[in-house]
Amino acid sequence: MAQDHNSRAPGLTIPGQAFRAAADADRPSAERGPSPATEPRTALHVAGLGKRVSLPSGELTILEGVSFGIAAGDTVAIVGASGSGKSTLLSLMAGLDTPSAGEVRVDGAPMSALDEDGRARVRAEKVGFVFQSFQLLPSLTALENVMLPLELRGDADAETPARAILGKVGLGARLDHYPRQLSGGEQQRVALARAFVTAPSLLFADEPTGNLDTHTGQAIVELLFALNADAGTTLVLVTHDEQLAARCGRRLRLDSGRLVAP
Ligand SMILES: Nc1ncnc2c1ncn2[C@@H]1O[C@H](COP(=O)(O)OP(=O)(O)OP(=O)(O)O)[C@@H](O)[C@H]1O
Ligand SMILES: [Mg+2]
Repeated sequence: MAQDHNSRAPGLTIPGQAFRAAADADRPSAERGPSPATEPRTALHVAGLGKRVSLPSGELTILEGVSFGIAAGDTVAIVGASGSGKSTLLSLMAGLDTPSAGEVRVDGAPMSALDEDGRARVRAEKVGFVFQSFQLLPSLTALENVMLPLELRGDADAETPARAILGKVGLGARLDHYPRQLSGGEQQRVALARAFVTAPSLLFADEPTGNLDTHTGQAIVELLFALNADAGTTLVLVTHDEQLAARCGRRLRLDSGRLVAP
């Protein structure tokens, strides 16, 4: 779906909503439909997002005035030069970091209004994350790494779904291997399995192929999009790879911490 929501007016971020918003325009506000911020089909809502940090040399603005909406099921690439703020934006959207200004809503839940525990709960329920550097726990086997998020949220049976998804990513014969006994591509497959095993509604990926050779990276991309299509997840990924960005339905470009035309 090649939608460019970013270039639209703020009220028109959701497919099908443009018509409703136009129809609503001349009705009293009490009769109007839900606002985009509370519309359940908005998977992610970002408004006026800013991040500043204080350094000995003064205040540094990393992100400023970033606003957009992402509809459920969309695939979105965040692109931009190194240092433009992509990873910072992803961390804020996933509730791993807190903004200096503005807000993020995940499935309607206002992340900025929640405390650390509240954000952790939303993350455990709704969010998956894939990192460039895999971030597997070295002391756990592939199977144990994938079982972990299910165990943390208290699932009675973590092993059956973990085994099933490891089979799906082609690692059925590597369940008892530790990360150091796996290739980079295999480690990223485990990381994909760990991210998808909780059936998250939103998946964030920061340079998921950045540490892999071209061939292995392509295989990981195919797997990522296959798992995503299968689960109907909303996918937001950061990439320098234009081919990978082109696979996404939509592209957001950052330049020095601000959103610019893609
Ligand atoms: N905690 C921090 N303290 C100070 N500066 C920071 C902090 N976090 C990020 N920055 C700076 O903010 C800018 C944006 O960083 P960020 O990691 O978001 O960039 P990026 O677009 O992901 O870059 P890359 O493509 O190289 O990964 C950089 O200049 C970085 O040095
Ligand atoms: Mg980065």
